[in-house]
Amino acid sequence: MATNEHGEEAYAVPPRRRPLPPALLFGRTFLRHPRMLGSVIPSSRFLVSRVLRQVDWPRTRVVVEAGPGVGTLTGPILERLGGEGSLFAFEMNPTFVSHLRSEIPDRRLTVLHRSAAEAGPVLHERGVGSVDLLVSGIPLSGLTRQARLSLIATWRSLLRPGGVLVIYQFTRSALPELRRVFGQVRQEFEPFNVLPARVFKCMT
Ligand SMILES: C[S@@+](CC[C@H](N)C(=O)[O-])C[C@H]1O[C@@H](n2cnc3c(N)ncnc32)[C@H](O)[C@@H]1O
Repeated sequence: MATNEHGEEAYAVPPRRRPLPPALLFGRTFLRHPRMLGSVIPSSRFLVSRVLRQVDWPRTRVVVEAGPGVGTLTGPILERLGGEGSLFAFEMNPTFVSHLRSEIPDRRLTVLHRSAAEAGPVLHERGVGSVDLLVSGIPLSGLTRQARLSLIATWRSLLRPGGVLVIYQFTRSALPELRRVFGQVRQEFEPFNVLPARVFKCMT
């Protein structure tokens, strides 16, 4: 046993592990769960700003984020959300859940280790009535049509009248289901992302 300058036994303190940079954590997790993540790197800042530009922030207080990953949109959402707002982030991957909880300490943010398909009962338990904005980057192209329709209809039921769903995807495969559930769907395209992505703004 080593002793310190006072002759006391000194225990070696293991060095605290530094958290992995978010992009590296995302890539490593992708190798384990490629279908759940759907992308090898997080969204680009161009895509983040195109998604968040769809939102009328002064009228937005309650936000649900489906599939926040390493928080690429979570931080920018919190920057735009007022002090009385709240953000409920539903993430299935436990590594991302721990990362978000430790790296984004913000009292407006609640990170839930639950599927975004369960958002209805989870919000109900917490006394959240209706949602102003739901943002999702969950890959929908891998789901069956029926599963996609059911997920989109669930999300629609959470929104207040005038509420908005904004989703971003690499394909247009979810468009028929979005159009079935929402009165109006507007599309934009963001080329500066790996892969280039489509943004769908769905209005109730
Ligand atoms: C393409 S990544 C998007 C990550 C991040 N939002 C971004 O834009 O960089 C999809 C994320 O959705 C999560 N996910 C997939 N299915 C989910 C579900 N049913 N409920 C909640 N999260 C889910 C994955 O774990 C992953 O973090």
